[in-house]
Amino acid sequence: MSQVEEKLAKSLTAESVELIPFLPYLLCDLWELGSSPTDIIYLIKKHIKKPEQMKVLDLACGKGAVSVQLAKQIGCQVKGIDITLEFIEFARKKAKELGVECLCEFQVEDINESVNIEKNYDLVILGSVGDVLGNPEETILKLKNIINPGGWIIIDDAYGKDGVNIDYYSKNEWCAIFNKTNVKLVEEVFVNDDALIDLNREQQDFIVKRAKELIEQYPEKASLFESYIQSQQAECDELENHMTVVTLLLKAIEK
Ligand SMILES: C[S@@+](CC[C@H](N)C(=O)[O-])C[C@H]1O[C@@H](n2cnc3c(N)ncnc32)[C@H](O)[C@@H]1O
Repeated sequence: MSQVEEKLAKSLTAESVELIPFLPYLLCDLWELGSSPTDIIYLIKKHIKKPEQMKVLDLACGKGAVSVQLAKQIGCQVKGIDITLEFIEFARKKAKELGVECLCEFQVEDINESVNIEKNYDLVILGSVGDVLGNPEETILKLKNIINPGGWIIIDDAYGKDGVNIDYYSKNEWCAIFNKTNVKLVEEVFVNDDALIDLNREQQDFIVKRAKELIEQYPEKASLFESYIQSQQAECDELENHMTVVTLLLKAIEK
């Protein structure tokens, strides 16, 4: 079993790679899989001049919720890359539906490959992807290679509360990494607690409904789907109680 598969499963809160073929079905009612397109668009409009002229790369774009809405609301060119074929097909369909297929390009690829190939972007986005590209320092250095000098990076992640959650870097640890990697934190947007709880509930209801359908269809795999429901719930509890979900706008410091 490859590390890429393990991290793919983890990025979608699946504890077992055995769940990978079922994830598109379990998530078929959702478009947004983590990042808030609203917060990302707010940050771009507030800080980036002439955003409609930007060339944007959305890494691990999922079903294209961020890419398509950026193209629609800002009018910029966006390339979205994700390893899950079904998600990319959905993103293409959404771009067409919203009339922005000429601004959007979607590709199936492991982003560990993309970071060695893609270059000269004004903005790169990495939303709710965890450690697919390594730890935060490794991730930021890889993202910096993709953007032009003085370019922009948006990362959607979470600050662990100091001393409470050892799996997540605290804000102080993130800030030390920004210094080390020569990026400036321009603005951070925190998700509203009530909004997060509402969204988690709504999404969890959809996932539970789909998991129950799969249990009926594949009774021999019931424990696999039940454990997915549990890990989703545990992730929601952790996000609501032990972490601060944050969207970060970073700017590469020109030497
Ligand atoms: C939680 S979702 C976030 C999707 C999207 N950024 C959003 O916020 O809506 C994580 C995504 O990472 C993708 N992913 C995980 N590992 C990957 C890899 N090595 N290469 C490309 N995509 C990957 C998954 O397919 C999934 O779409």
